[in-house]
Amino acid sequence: MELATYHAGNQRMEIVLSATAPEHATIESFQPPTRLLAGPGPSNVDPRVLEAMRKPLISHLDPVFWERLLVMAEMIGTVYGRTDGASFCLSQSGTSGMEAGILNLVAPGDTVVAASAGFFGNRILEMLRRRGAKVVELTAPFGQHVPNDQILDALAQNPNAVMVCVVYAETSTGVAHPLQELGEAMRASGTDALLYADCVTAIGGMPIELDAWGVDYAYACSQKCIAAPPGLSPVSISSRAIERIGRDGMQVPYSLDLAEHIKYWIDRPMTYHHTTPNLSYYALDEALRLSLEEGLDVRYARHADAGAYVQAGFRERGFDLLPAASDQLAQLTAVRVPEGIDGKAIQGILLNTHNIEVGGGLGPLSPPIWRIGMMGVNANRETADRVLAAFDTVLPNGAH
Ligand SMILES: Cc1ncc(COP(=O)(O)O)c(C=O)c1O
Repeated sequence: MELATYHAGNQRMEIVLSATAPEHATIESFQPPTRLLAGPGPSNVDPRVLEAMRKPLISHLDPVFWERLLVMAEMIGTVYGRTDGASFCLSQSGTSGMEAGILNLVAPGDTVVAASAGFFGNRILEMLRRRGAKVVELTAPFGQHVPNDQILDALAQNPNAVMVCVVYAETSTGVAHPLQELGEAMRASGTDALLYADCVTAIGGMPIELDAWGVDYAYACSQKCIAAPPGLSPVSISSRAIERIGRDGMQVPYSLDLAEHIKYWIDRPMTYHHTTPNLSYYALDEALRLSLEEGLDVRYARHADAGAYVQAGFRERGFDLLPAASDQLAQLTAVRVPEGIDGKAIQGILLNTHNIEVGGGLGPLSPPIWRIGMMGVNANRETADRVLAAFDTVLPNGAH
């Protein structure tokens, strides 16, 4: 019989170790393959971001950590173009950022104007319905966006609407919504409605100026153009939206209560809300630091160049892109799968033979497409060439 000894306080304890190894001791450690993540996200991360996760673990209540939260909040505000209000991060993925904005700012029975032209716009509609809002639903086919005029008309017809929701960069289609124009037009109209924008695929990859454009609530995720590991949702909320959190006795779920998050992130002395996943926070902190070190304008230009380059490559090979060129995102390219080709099978070959992940269509409403991401550290011509070369191997005649 084998004994192990340990000390608890001044007490010496002995425990019996099993004479035979338990069955699960033979389970091997997980060794994921090294992939090029050229799909809709996550994207690959800089080694310095992974390295940051090996820094000493300290607690979410450590004063040194609170100090750093303020630095992180400032960096998040900078990538969002916000000095007003509060910018911080939820310890959950982008979906929770999406839902938090609705649960904090919309009460059951409120009227909300929501534009959807893809999978994530549809998810916002669904969350609003579940909240019990009266939803003025404006939709456009996959590959387009709802025109701003339509949104402004709906707002004029529903002057009691408390919020307008749009997806700035629709990852399921590769379409950009003209958010700046919408924000400016809403301000000019004098409406009291808040503007809510999904910035998940936009953040760190294309300009965002929440203050200047009049966007009241925005959320994102960590794993795309910011290029940190998944699971976090940087959010940003204007002062006037903060004042409306939980208005008129509206119930807000505790874990997503943005006012409680602000007490932890920004107010000092801080108040415990939940135990933050600090190693992931270190990684996001480093990814934000690297983004700002690169310079946001330089980073956006790099994404624009990589996107234009890979899109030209697909067009040269005879493939059609889903959106019109004027609406095309740089960081996400939706390529139509040509008639007679099994898009999923091609994805499988790219993954299993070339170690390259590309996305497929998302949800039952999507047309057959591949979704190619040029995001974060992958937003460059070398990565684009690698993806195009792999397609050339699998489909030597391009789209023909
Ligand atoms: C536009 C958009 N919104 C929301 C989400 C949801 O984010 P997450 O998967 O991190 O929860 C995604 C994820 O890809 C997205 O692309």
